[in-house]
Amino acid sequence: MDISDYKQRFDQRIKQKLSKSELEALKVEYLGRKGIIRQLFSTLAGLSSLDKKKVGQQINEFKFYIEQKLSELNSKLVEPTQEFFDPSLPKIKIKKGSLHPITYAVEEISSIFSKISFVRMSYNEVEWEFYSFSALNIPADHPARDDVETFFLDYPEDKKYGHLILSPHTSSGQVREMLRLKQPPVRMINIAKCYRPNWDTTHTPMFHQFEGLCIDKGINITHLKGTIDYFVKQYFGENRQIRLRPYDFRFTEPSFEIDISCAVCSGTGIYNEEKCRVCKSGWLELGGSGMVHPYVLRSGGIDPDIYSGWAFGFGIERVFLMKEGLQVDDLRVFYSGDLRFLSEF
Ligand code: DAH
Repeated sequence: MDISDYKQRFDQRIKQKLSKSELEALKVEYLGRKGIIRQLFSTLAGLSSLDKKKVGQQINEFKFYIEQKLSELNSKLVEPTQEFFDPSLPKIKIKKGSLHPITYAVEEISSIFSKISFVRMSYNEVEWEFYSFSALNIPADHPARDDVETFFLDYPEDKKYGHLILSPHTSSGQVREMLRLKQPPVRMINIAKCYRPNWDTTHTPMFHQFEGLCIDKGINITHLKGTIDYFVKQYFGENRQIRLRPYDFRFTEPSFEIDISCAVCSGTGIYNEEKCRVCKSGWLELGGSGMVHPYVLRSGGIDPDIYSGWAFGFGIERVFLMKEGLQVDDLRVFYSGDLRFLSEF
C-alpha cells in the first residue's frame, strides 16, 4: 500500500471547485467512521511491528494533511449570497405625519378667497387697543375692553394707542389694511390667531379667525351676501344656503349674524321626524358681518361719502367642525396634543 497514491487522488479531488456540501461529503469519505483513513488504519493489523509504526505514522500525517486542506478550503468558501425576496409580504408601513387640522383649514380658506382676488394678510397678534377697539367705534367703557374679556400686556400705556393687548379678534386688521393701502379698492382676507381669557368646553384662550373686508365705490349688502354665499358653497358644498339675521356690532351698520343651513336636516330643522339634534332649528351660526361703519372708514383714512364696504369675521375652529360635521363636545381637543384626534385629518 502506498499512501502517496491516496494523497495524489485526494489532491486531484480538491483541485476542482467544491461547494460546501461537496466538501462535507469529501470529509465524510476520507475522515468518516467508514472513511478511507479508517480503512487504511485497519490494514495495519497485518503488518510487522516495524512497518506498523512507519505506515501508521504516514497514515497519521496523511490524515493531518486532509484535515488541514479541508479546513483551508472550507474557510475560503464563499457561498453566493442571494437575498431572499418575498413579494407576498405586506409592505412596510411608513408613518406619515400631517399638519394640524386648523392649518389645513387656513390653507383652504385662503385659497378660496385668493380665487376672487382677496389678498391674504396676517395682522398683529400683539396689538394696540386703538386698532382692536377705539378705531372700530368700540367705546372705552365697552365690556369687551375689560380685562375679563381681553389679555392686557404689562407695558406702559400710549397716549394715542392705549394699552398693548393680545388681539382679541381679526377686526383690528380692518383699519390697519385701510391705512396700508391708503385708498380703495380693499379686498383683504386677514387670517390670524386671536386671544381671549376663556377656557371651557367651547372656548380656548387662543383660537383663529378670518376676517373679510371689501371697500370700493358702490359696495352694498348684495356684494356681502354674494361673497359669503360663494365661500359657503366652495367650503361646505353647493347645496348649503345662507341667511342674514339682524344683529348689533359697533363697527358695522347695519350688522348681521350669518347662518348656514344645516347639512344634517337640509335647513328644515326636522330629521327622521324629530327635531334635528345638530342645529335644532335648521340653521347654524357662522359668525358676524355687516356694512363697515362710517366711523371705521374714517379711522382708516377713507371718505365714507365716496366709499362703502362690508366686513365679516368667522372663527376657524368653528367652521372647520361644521364642515367635517363633527360635534366635538370639548373644543380644547384641538390644542390638547391628543394624536387620536389630530391624526384623523
Ligand atoms: N369681530 C367680531 C367677533 O370677534 C366678529 C365680526 C363681526 C367681524 C362683525 C366683523 C363684523 O368684521 O362685521 O366677534
